[in-house]
Order: sequence, then C-alpha cells, then structure tokens
Amino acid sequence: MSAPKAVGENMLWGGRFTEGLDPLMVQYNQSLPYDRIFWQQDIQGSIAFARANMRSGILTEHEFGEIQRGFAQIAEEWRTNTFVVKENDEDIHTANERRLGEIIGKEIAGKLHTGRSRNEQIATDMRLWLRDELRKLEGYLIELIKVATARATNEIDYIMPGYTHLQKAQPVRWSQWLLSHAVAFATELQRLREVIKRVNRSPLGTGALAGNPFHIDRDAMARELGFDGLLPNSMNAVADRDFALETMQWGSSLMVKISRWAEDLIIYSSLEFGFVRLADAYSTGSSLMPQKKNADSLELLRGKCGRTFGQMAGLMMTIKGLPTTYNKDLQESVEPLLDHIKTVGDSLQIATGVLSTLTVNPDKMAAALAPEMLATEFADYLVRKGVPFREAHHISGRVVALAEKNGVPMDTLSLEQLQSVDSRFGSDVQKCLDYERAVELKDAAGGTSKRAVREQIDLLNSML
Ligand code: ARG
Repeated sequence: MSAPKAVGENMLWGGRFTEGLDPLMVQYNQSLPYDRIFWQQDIQGSIAFARANMRSGILTEHEFGEIQRGFAQIAEEWRTNTFVVKENDEDIHTANERRLGEIIGKEIAGKLHTGRSRNEQIATDMRLWLRDELRKLEGYLIELIKVATARATNEIDYIMPGYTHLQKAQPVRWSQWLLSHAVAFATELQRLREVIKRVNRSPLGTGALAGNPFHIDRDAMARELGFDGLLPNSMNAVADRDFALETMQWGSSLMVKISRWAEDLIIYSSLEFGFVRLADAYSTGSSLMPQKKNADSLELLRGKCGRTFGQMAGLMMTIKGLPTTYNKDLQESVEPLLDHIKTVGDSLQIATGVLSTLTVNPDKMAAALAPEMLATEFADYLVRKGVPFREAHHISGRVVALAEKNGVPMDTLSLEQLQSVDSRFGSDVQKCLDYERAVELKDAAGGTSKRAVREQIDLLNSML
C-alpha cells in the first residue's frame, strides 16, 4: 500500500477527516472520468436550485447573479474542453462547485449547497441526461419502423416462404415479414414512451434523504428543468434507480428483438437463401477467403444484445439488498447506463442503415417457394366443399405422401391421381396451386393479403 496523502483542503467532506485516502482509493472512488458527461445537467440543476433558494431568501439577488455568472464561465470551459480537472475533483458535482469558488469566491459559492446533497444531485443529473437521450432513441426507433413500413409498401408484391421451425410453412408477403418485426419494434416504442414519463420526474429538493429544511419550491425547480412532476418521497428519491433499471430492461428487450430480426436477415442473406443482399457499407470481407461477404453489422447487432442484457442484470445485482436510501454502490449505476444508451442508440442507427440499403431478390424468394407449402390450400379446398377440417387435413396429407412416394412435386399430380385419394377433388382444384391466391385468402385482420398488410402499415404509421 502506498502512503496516504494529506486530506486535501478542497475535499468537500474534508471537515471531519484527519488522514488522507489511499491513492488507489482516490481513483476507486472517483466518478468524474465518466460522470463529467453530466456537466451541463449539473449546472442547470445548480442554477435552478440557486434560483429557488434566492426566492426563499437564502441567497440575495446579487449572490444568485454571481452564481449564474460563474456557471456561465464553467459551462464555457466544459464546452471548449478547457475545464482543468484538479486532483480532488471526486465527481462532477465536486468539480463544478470547486471551480465556482475559484471564479466567484468561496464566500458566495459556499452558499450554493445550502440544504442540498449530492445524493439528490446525481439522481437529478442522471434523469435529465437520460430523458434527453431517450428522446433521441425514440427518434431512431421511429426511423427504423418507418424504413420497414416504407419497404413493406413498395415491395408488397414479393412473395416468400414463411417459416415455422425454420421449415417452409406457408407463403407470405415479404411485407408481412417486415411488419412482423416492425410491430414488435412498435411495442418497444410504446414501452419507451412509458419509461420516459417515469424517468422525467424530479428528485431535486429532497436533500440527503430527509427533505429540504428551507422551504424550497420543488415544483418551480421541476418546471424550470422540464420535469413532468416530482418524486413524492425524499428517501425514495435519493435511493431510486428504477429509472436506470427500467431503461435497461427496455433496452435489452429491444435488443432481443433486434437480435432476432438480425438473425433472420443473416439467414436470408446467406448464399443458400439469397433473398436479400446487404449493402457493402454494412458488410465486411474475409482476410483469408476472397469470395466472402460477411453480415458483420447483423452479427454485431445480435452480439451486442448480450452486453446490454448484462448491464441490466448487473445493476439488478448492485441494487439487490442495499439498505435504505443512498449507498455508494449506487454510483455503479452510471457506467453501465452510459454504455447501454450508446450501444442501443448505435444499434438502432445501424439497423436502420442495414434495412434501408439492402437489396431484395424477389426471384430468389419465388424460387424458394415449394408446392408442399400449398398442402393447407388443398385441405381448405375440401373444407369449402363441406369436409370437416380434421378429415380434410388427413386427405391433404395423403396427397403429400403420394407425391413423395412417386418422387414428384405435389403440383405435378394429375386430377385422376388426386381423385384416387379422394373423389371430392374436382377440376377446379388446380387453383390451389397458386401462391398469390394462397396469400390473398389470408385476408382476416393481421393476415398476409394485400389489404390486411396495408391495414397494418396504416396502424403502424398512426403510432409514429
Ligand atoms: N458520485 C456520486 C454518485 O455517483 C454522487 C453522490 C455522492 N454521495 C455521497 N453521499 N457520497 O453516486
């Protein structure tokens, strides 16, 4: 262990300490390297707090003016990257307050923190920052859904195999596949809008844990900072990290959906499928095999899902079992949240880039359609002739078996052969072999007919 340093004069809480911190402890404790990202929110919060204290007579107008002047300069320093960090600047709150004292003098700067705690400050900074970031993510998510609905509109004629168990099941429109993911993303959009409402509530004016003793007007501060309302309990306000947790639950849930979407496209872009081709901007080559074009963008989208879930799970564990109100463990909520927001924001933009630039190959989709995918149409044909579905399903199964036995595709069986299975097959059974017809018959709401697809597009667009 290296020798402890003397307690710095500038340490905010230095008053009752006689010995210094272990140098590694200084680093270990420091959050400034990452919470400096909140410099602007920290200043806005401080100004709102000082204004409220002026209104309740704690600060004079002159003192408030000085505090504003000081912070204007500090903001300029952060903006121009000229803010000089000092050794004892533990976190963004300490750094800003220390610098304020240097600019306007400790006499007035020392009054800023009256009735205030860093516990309420960090919660305020994080919520303000997160609210604005989540609004950006909302915009990115809307973009992604828009690209999907635009493609679904323009490419509504393309028909592809729809899969269950990754086996060819029934023909669907390519648009139906696009929308199947778009509606999942839209659910996340609704969730996000709910989350933002809960993030955007003000802890300011709750003190260290017990509340503010100087009649501070919490509503006025909340209004000034653009919060939608107040957190109703001081002890909860400083202890709560639900806003970070819920954000990461939302983010990891969104990433799970992006990951499944990416997995589909990885499969569809393989040579074996060839339904889509990624733009060069979102693919890379192999250093060894010159023929390769890899869907790295999609693989990263799938891979980063794990990281975002880990951040969420990590914070759950950090918070579990914490005793009431603020504990330093809560500082551990900051870094995962910062990375989470960056990862989700980047992922949304990459996903939008991939989807808006990929080329679709409708011929490959059509070539992948197989007559066996129309077996259900044969059953439905018999149902329309009054045969109970269970029986119709069985008969249609025997048609498939007959084709298999003869080693021919189902659509090459003659009418006589079909009638040898069941005499109720008539010459009009031919129409069952039309993929377009099969798709158009799925016309009930949510189905893959053109009309039903357009209905989904309208519904989605109305949410954006
Ligand atoms: N840097 C701290 C955090 O991120 C700020 C709050 C410090 N409060 C305290 N009582 N030490 O949580």
